[in-house]
Amino acid sequence: MTEVDLADWRARRRRRFAPDKWGVLVCRAVWDESADTRTFLLTPKDGSRIEHDPGQFMTFRIDTSDGWIERCYTITSSAARDGGIEISVKRQVGLGSGALHKTLIAGAEIEAFGPSGRFGPANLPGANYALIAAGSGITPMLSILRTAADRGIDLDAILVQVVPTSADLIAEAEITNLSRRMPRLTHLPILTRSPGNGRPDSDLLARAIPDLVDRTVLCCGPQPFMEMVRSAALKVGVPAERYGEECFDFSSPISDSTAGADTQIRTVTFARSGQTFDCAETSTILEAVKAAGLPLPSSCARGICGTCKTFKHTGEVTMAHDGGIRQREIDRGFILPCVSRPLTDITLDC
Ligand code: FES
Repeated sequence: MTEVDLADWRARRRRRFAPDKWGVLVCRAVWDESADTRTFLLTPKDGSRIEHDPGQFMTFRIDTSDGWIERCYTITSSAARDGGIEISVKRQVGLGSGALHKTLIAGAEIEAFGPSGRFGPANLPGANYALIAAGSGITPMLSILRTAADRGIDLDAILVQVVPTSADLIAEAEITNLSRRMPRLTHLPILTRSPGNGRPDSDLLARAIPDLVDRTVLCCGPQPFMEMVRSAALKVGVPAERYGEECFDFSSPISDSTAGADTQIRTVTFARSGQTFDCAETSTILEAVKAAGLPLPSSCARGICGTCKTFKHTGEVTMAHDGGIRQREIDRGFILPCVSRPLTDITLDC
């Protein structure tokens, strides 16, 4: 590398990967964590660095046999490092993870959006933590632990990792190592298919973490698991402001569409393509887009990821998002169609 190359590289390294635009990442390395979970090391193609908080995720545009889809995956690597990010993806039923396992090889490129999300210690600071994860829910916890270790924080945390068998314990040896670097970190694996074990419940959790009430609780896993943990935390008196959860099980999008005979129907227009379609006031704009068979990138359908963010030229909506859009973006005219319902006719920049 010449001095000119080095100066150019340094200048590009200082630039931040824009979190509110789609950009291109290059896959640098791939390795298996378990029989069905694979980790991908990704760096921005333009040499910029991805700034993120531990617990955040990115949205990826994936080419599948059924066309392009968007999926969110948590960043598992340390936020203290700026040499790229890692995501660990479990191969599951459905198109996204299978296509990633098949096509995202070293040297391949992938479009990404983010980082996004408010899960993690940056938004839920605490003196000590109960990190409770089931299955792939371990991924944000890994970033939290790796970041704390890299930043020299003596993290006081109990990590509960629920998996079927010991073969499913991702990063077990590394977590053991991390607890040597952070002596107040305790790792409690729960193997649900071990003789005598079953699905964890609130009693088991209370026995495993006797001082749960004093801890800030961060939980990630399938929806029913998180409901159990939430009610266990509430039961022992953990206040809502010390409880946070993250779910990437978007298989059943939330909808409270209740159109009746007197429901107002609004017209939505895509300004660029000129396409128009109807949207009931009780439906989200994304639901109407899909019903009309039109393309609009989306992933979580819950106002979390920001993938569907679109500029609204005219019209009024009600929008109940969950962190997928910033106030300054709303002020500039952007909306999240997945959680926006029209109050008037709408024109979008599509
Ligand atoms: S699809 Fe995630 S915010 Fe709309």
